[in-house]
Amino acid sequence: MNTIQITTPSKNYPVFIGENAIWKLKSVLENLNPAPKNLLIITDENVGKLYLNEVQHVIGESFSCETIQIQAGDDQKSFENYIACQSFALSKGLDRTSIVLALGGGMIGDLAGFVAGTYMRGIRFIQLPTTILAHDSAVGGKTGINHPEGKNMIGVFHQPEAVIYSTEFLATLPQHEKRSGFAEVIKHALIADESLYQSLCKNVQTIDDLNGDSLLQALIRGIEIKNGIVSQDEKEKGIRAFLNFGHTLGHAIEGELQYKGITHGEAVAHGMAFALSLNENTVQIGNELKKWLKSLGYPPLSKTLSVPLLIERMKKDKKAEKGNIQMVLLKELEKPYLSSYQAEELEIKLSAFLEGN
Ligand SMILES: NC(=O)c1ccc[n+]([C@@H]2O[C@H](COP(=O)([O-])OP(=O)(O)OC[C@H]3O[C@@H](n4cnc5c(N)ncnc54)[C@H](O)[C@@H]3O)[C@@H](O)[C@H]2O)c1
Ligand SMILES: [Zn+2]
Repeated sequence: MNTIQITTPSKNYPVFIGENAIWKLKSVLENLNPAPKNLLIITDENVGKLYLNEVQHVIGESFSCETIQIQAGDDQKSFENYIACQSFALSKGLDRTSIVLALGGGMIGDLAGFVAGTYMRGIRFIQLPTTILAHDSAVGGKTGINHPEGKNMIGVFHQPEAVIYSTEFLATLPQHEKRSGFAEVIKHALIADESLYQSLCKNVQTIDDLNGDSLLQALIRGIEIKNGIVSQDEKEKGIRAFLNFGHTLGHAIEGELQYKGITHGEAVAHGMAFALSLNENTVQIGNELKKWLKSLGYPPLSKTLSVPLLIERMKKDKKAEKGNIQMVLLKELEKPYLSSYQAEELEIKLSAFLEGN
């Protein structure tokens, strides 16, 4: 098992990652100070079916442990589930020493982290990620839920006590979820590690190549890159925004499609290709990326998407300023920067990009 130390201004914590890392959970719980009165596992129905018994078995009898299972899907990162979790926690007598365990992908990590970050003004939580994507979402302390007006609009920064990433759980992920998570690995490589990017391009020819030690090493590197950025800019006052590479358009696509038929990472993959098309130095990289993504089975963009509606959504992005849309672009591999566009200008470029798809 490998350990990566996350260092942020508000908290340092370990990521334990590797096969059977879940067995580390018991000792992490036993070493908490103050000892927790009780635990609350928040998971979704898919993950619960597969791994809840095992996690409960690892925890054993030494802790009183409650569980809430919610439906799967990003639309469940909602006010309704947030309130349901808070009410459940109150009804089970969780107090300020209690611990929330987020067992699942990024949806559960964000929701459970937000529940923990606001219950009784903030209690501790541990991330137990089960998706490839969650190498990104479980680290860095962004937690929250979606508002009908936009994704991740309500939330808090709240760092976990630990992240325990048991990579054998990834074997049961459906292909499109592997693709979704892999897009964030590609993002980390493009913004910060050219040699990782080159080796992924060479070694990942099909989605089934994402396994074993090469996947583990890519996840570790992705987490290290994220830590490198978050440790300098925990609250996104500056360079943390680079982690949004591909996300301005990606979020707009997800929103327009009502979070159906396309995963987060698949949408972000299109967003990255678009961002690369906007700087002439990276056009070629963008074209090659598009070909590679297509060969890995990333779905094409729906022809029904409306460019003006996508632009409207991009104007509501959290980074947008005075009606201008902020995009993260690359000068070259590993060199991200922020570029501001007037909506009309970006609309023309996006129309041209979508026509070429
Ligand atoms: N907080 C952050 O910094 C951050 C960063 C990136 C993304 N996110 C958020 O993460 C979310 C996306 O995360 P995600 O892609 O993990 O989605 P997810 O949590 O919805 O999981 C995707 C699907 O896979 C299923 N699943 C999870 N683990 C499984 C396993 N081991 N085997 C089989 N099925 C499994 C889930 O039930 C779900 O149906 C989005 O809401 C996004 O906004 C947050
Ligand atoms: Zn993302």
